[in-house]
Amino acid sequence: MAFPFFSKNTKPILARCRDDHATEMRLKYNPYYRPIDAQQGTHIRHDGRDMIMLASNDYLGLSFHPKVIEAGRAAMLQWGASPTGARSANGSRAYHIELEEKLAAFLGREACHVHAAGYLSCMAGVAAYAQKGDLILADKNLHSCLWDGIRLSHATVERFSHNSVADLREVAATLSPDAPKMLVLEGVYSMEGHIAKIPELLAAVKDLGCFTVLDDAHGFGVLGRQGRGTIDHFGLNAEIDILCASMSKSLASTGGFVAGSRDLIEYLRTHSKHTIFSAALSPSQAACASTALDIIQTEPHHHERLQKNAQRYRAMLHSLGLDTWESETPAVPIVLGSKERAYRFWQALLEKNIFTIMSIAPAVPPGKDLIRTAISALHSDEDLARIADAMAYAVKKL
Ligand SMILES: Cc1ncc(COP(=O)(O)O)c(C=O)c1O
Repeated sequence: MAFPFFSKNTKPILARCRDDHATEMRLKYNPYYRPIDAQQGTHIRHDGRDMIMLASNDYLGLSFHPKVIEAGRAAMLQWGASPTGARSANGSRAYHIELEEKLAAFLGREACHVHAAGYLSCMAGVAAYAQKGDLILADKNLHSCLWDGIRLSHATVERFSHNSVADLREVAATLSPDAPKMLVLEGVYSMEGHIAKIPELLAAVKDLGCFTVLDDAHGFGVLGRQGRGTIDHFGLNAEIDILCASMSKSLASTGGFVAGSRDLIEYLRTHSKHTIFSAALSPSQAACASTALDIIQTEPHHHERLQKNAQRYRAMLHSLGLDTWESETPAVPIVLGSKERAYRFWQALLEKNIFTIMSIAPAVPPGKDLIRTAISALHSDEDLARIADAMAYAVKKL
């Protein structure tokens, strides 16, 4: 019989996990994985208290829309809980095709493919198309799913400073002219709330024959006509080869999609491991996204309220002297500059029953430790007043 004492050092990986400093700190300060016990719109029950959610990606506030909820329920009754298989095998259903066609039409694309997570879609949106020997130009602040896609592709990556046209131009000038090239951008950078300078960035690489991939997880539903996204906002639909995004934000569901020309989407279905070997999007999630997409086009007041709320919220933060990293969108960071200040601010907001998320280095650049907040169309005037009081209190606690 093996005694635990003797076998203690025989599994270095186990020891590494047990001694992990980052995990120890996370458990000590407990800022993440905080369970919410109940929710109704922007109001949540957490830690025995009623709070306002100020960190949700439910930008248009559709996750509690009665039509969305009813669509999810009806789809489950019709199709069961899960397709229990990959699209390439037993998991393809009529509702996937219907959602893909609807999304493609909305976005002005020939075709679309939906996955069970936005992370999968955005990773696949890069990894399916780039390969060893290619050169990828990547904004330094890309979301981790895009970095995972880049790594999986085995292409060589060249980073440029966040949203910097000058740096992209400089980096691009050093590249071998022969290698196939890809440019990877986000439409809206959610940690910063910045809109990508797409026209200028594309102009900086216009002679390089770059295949362009845009992750518009936070621009979709928020920018452009009826929320068609960041490239619609700039009128540059034809310039982007692959558009990928998540359905867990404005579409009030989970899952993601990749949209492009028909030949590019069929190529993805042939070559992307994430697409071939992962179980398909569930019936209820597809139905919720599909109904949210209808609502986006038929009930414009959600979009209008979101823009109004975002403006009011940013103005309120500025009036308190807070640094919002020049956010232009409903994703609004509050930059505090050190992890101690971020922690104090986050705690003060919790005390005042406002739920936010702390983001500290290395998740953000050094000196940019921040509180992530996001405003929704569902925040009422009363919510905004309570948020303003809490922010004023947190400022005093710094
Ligand atoms: C820019 C971006 N891309 C992709 C994703 C992944 O989407 P999901 O959470 O739906 O998997 C996220 C989610 O936070 C994101 O912010």
